[in-house]
Amino acid sequence: MRAPAAIVIGLAACSAPAAPTSPSAAREQRPAWQVRPLGGARSIDPGTWANELLDARGCATCHVAIAGEWAASRHALAWTNGIFQAEYTARPLAWCINCHAPLTTQQAGRFPDRGVDCATCHVRGGALVTTHKRPGSPHATVEDPSFGSPAFCADCHQFTFPVLTGGTVTRMTAHPMQTTVASFRAGPYATQRDGCMTCHGSPTNHAFLGGHDPGMREAALDVTWCRRADTVEVRVRNAAAGHAVPTGDIHRHMNLRVWRSSAPEALFEAFYGRRFDPADDGGKLTVWDSTIAPEATRQHDIPLASLGGDDDEPINLELDYVFLEHDLPRPGQAAPSEPFTASITRRRALVEDVPACMAPP
Ligand code: HEC
Ligand code: HEC
Ligand code: HEC
Ligand code: HEC
Ligand code: HEC
Repeated sequence: MRAPAAIVIGLAACSAPAAPTSPSAAREQRPAWQVRPLGGARSIDPGTWANELLDARGCATCHVAIAGEWAASRHALAWTNGIFQAEYTARPLAWCINCHAPLTTQQAGRFPDRGVDCATCHVRGGALVTTHKRPGSPHATVEDPSFGSPAFCADCHQFTFPVLTGGTVTRMTAHPMQTTVASFRAGPYATQRDGCMTCHGSPTNHAFLGGHDPGMREAALDVTWCRRADTVEVRVRNAAAGHAVPTGDIHRHMNLRVWRSSAPEALFEAFYGRRFDPADDGGKLTVWDSTIAPEATRQHDIPLASLGGDDDEPINLELDYVFLEHDLPRPGQAAPSEPFTASITRRRALVEDVPACMAPP
């Protein structure tokens, strides 16, 4: 009973006077997981090279359910997925690796195909980092309350265009490239206690479903159409995403199309995405942004006459989500080894069967 007390007293007697900045205050300035500035200019250093801390398969022996969700996630596939590989092999830049296989150790050849793996998020300075240590944990765990917060996700999900020399970052410009976290912070969900995990949670919180998941895509957008006099009104509402839709990679976009089959040349088309022009500082200026902010609605009033065809011919509507720059691969570039477009909704109806508009225009 006495020994622990003596040790505590001994430590107290030996310890230096309190430093002006306590360790917890220092932690608030620089969280334990944060080892690089935004933009992926450098790899993520996990500290020691102990294999058992680096191998996701090793973690899987005890964390079976978590490892299962992670293995099916885009994080696990960040390096190997066909869409990334199609882009990367066309233009292999060292910068890309800092987020798609981010660990210094991966880049030195250890488990390079595991993408954003357990150690990428959880291992720093050779120790595990998370919000708090659980009962029965065998790990030397560093607790950091901001682990998993929007600021943590920003390490890879929020950055400006870089200026690259030989594929590596010389400097970051002032112009946004991926803005998921800023878009979230400017929106109505910014004050949610669980941040990104409010919607990206799952049974073990490691599935991170997003644009590649049909359920998430369809939940995100509420598409309605109605008829008013000689016009079809189409509304697309961001009903469930905490950031603009689409978000993330610059190539993400959606195409809305309304047409009659006998008059394809009269097709109505809307593009939801971003377009860029070169900027003075070497980055890219956003010159067009038709992505849909949280809870915002885009409305298109399409005169029936503009669609051509016959009055008694059905109208088609489709909203597609496109993961890449083009609907089809560029000449000379191999097609990605997985689908790179997805349907959000498809409809076909006679004008008289499209519901009449209730709300004022
Ligand atoms: C020998 C079994 C075992 C292995 C291997 C193992 N863990 Fe754990 N881990 C546990 C137990 C037990 C807990 C505490 C209870 C719980 O959360 O499941 C835990 C807790 C955690 C926690 C929560 C923080 C804490 O310390 O309580 C994290 C994060 C974690 N493990 C990550 C990992 C990662 C990453 C790996 C692979 C590098 C790994 N674990 C390998 C058994 C293991
Ligand atoms: C600062 C981190 C970062 C860097 C550097 C980076 N990416 Fe990404 N990339 C991401 C994130 C985060 C996503 C996920 C967002 C999304 O799903 O749109 C992503 C998504 C992608 C996707 C879409 C993958 C899919 O599953 O559909 C492609 C393709 C891609 N990146 C290519 C590249 C290429 C090529 C480079 C180098 C020129 C690069 N990335 C550099 C963070 C980065
Ligand atoms: C994209 C980052 C990311 C990756 C990759 C990741 N985790 Fe986590 N992990 C988190 C977040 C966020 C939490 C929740 C932290 C909190 O709120 O306490 C978490 C929590 C945990 C916990 C705590 C127990 C629990 O149920 O919350 C364990 C154990 C864990 N992770 C293990 C793993 C293992 C094992 C892997 C690889 C198979 C892994 N993690 C991959 C971000 C990640
Ligand atoms: C170390 C870098 C890194 C961190 C930290 C990180 N991510 Fe990711 N995340 C990525 C990359 C890279 C991808 C794209 C993988 C691919 O190529 O498809 C991605 C993909 C995703 C996707 C899936 C996108 C889709 O298209 O389905 C979601 C959702 C996501 N991340 C959410 C989060 C959240 C929430 C956090 C914070 C808790 C987080 N990520 C932390 C790098 C990271
Ligand atoms: C209110 C719910 C909600 C919140 C909060 C939220 N998301 Fe999402 N997120 C979604 C939905 C729904 C989708 C699917 C639609 C899409 O792909 O845009 C999505 C998609 C994504 C994607 C995939 C984009 C792509 O290109 O495939 C990424 C990455 C992502 N979220 C990251 C984040 C991050 C990081 C945060 C916190 C800063 C966050 N999300 C907060 C609901 C949310």
